[in-house]
Amino acid sequence: MDNKSLISISDLNKDEILALLQRAQYFEQNPNSHLLQGKVVATLFFEPSTRTRLSFETAVNRLGGRVIGFSDAKTSSQSKGETLKDTIMMVSNYADLIVMRHYLEGAARYASEIAPIPIINAGDGANQHPSQTMLDLYSIYKTQGRLTDLTITMVGDLKYGRTVHSLLEAMHYFNPTFNFVACDELKMPEQYKQFCRGKGIAYQETRDFSEEIINQTDILYMTRVQRERFSDIMEYERVKNLYNLHAAMLQGCRPNLKVLHPLPRITEISQDVDDTPQAYYFEQARNGLYARQAIICRALGIDPLL
Ligand code: CP
Repeated sequence: MDNKSLISISDLNKDEILALLQRAQYFEQNPNSHLLQGKVVATLFFEPSTRTRLSFETAVNRLGGRVIGFSDAKTSSQSKGETLKDTIMMVSNYADLIVMRHYLEGAARYASEIAPIPIINAGDGANQHPSQTMLDLYSIYKTQGRLTDLTITMVGDLKYGRTVHSLLEAMHYFNPTFNFVACDELKMPEQYKQFCRGKGIAYQETRDFSEEIINQTDILYMTRVQRERFSDIMEYERVKNLYNLHAAMLQGCRPNLKVLHPLPRITEISQDVDDTPQAYYFEQARNGLYARQAIICRALGIDPLL
């Protein structure tokens, strides 16, 4: 694998994460430049996306590079039966970097093992979403003034939610305490709880999304129940509306609490939360632009601070 690829958040050590955050901060102050002049970035989205694709493409455009790619694999030769391997090899002929979202877990890792150019994983099935994690970390840092010693409550689809899996792994450097709020069908998978135990990270699991939990929380990380991951649609129907955050539930929260959500949201955050000082999910998505500018530059060996 090219060591500039970003496939899993665990590809980055603590210093690399902090270096990316520092560069995200730089890009927030200096979003427009010619750092990518002459570079072509391919965005290959085999699954739908609004924020991830558009913020990656905006990041390239604002840095003076060019974008090629597809937002719907049905318009690519995959629809004629071309393999992922051949698609990656072809696009590597044209671009300097591939940003790829795929519905199969492991697809991005596979691509990074065969491609002669770096790959950035923009989400692979229920597995990982490392660029989302970088923008989540940047959002946490901006709102809390630190990453260390925070209580993070994750709510909703903790089984299929790749954003919570990536965030949990990244936070292990910063001594977090986790609350996992989910129904039995969507509990945090055992491998991630084992990871916490192995790293000495405190966590508790509960089915109840209570104000008691909210009032002990610094970051309330809501997630969507992802219909596209369920093989049994009846099970999705049973669990899709179990957790809903309303503004009234935030009345006794800590003054620093912020509500994050990778978005899109369906019903899990009521629109009355949007007008509270705790709502941070739209700014969070904006932070994605700066975090992704930092990630793209790292992948291409370009350091804006030099
Ligand atoms: N957060 C996120 O991955 O959103 P999109 O699916 O719109 O890219």
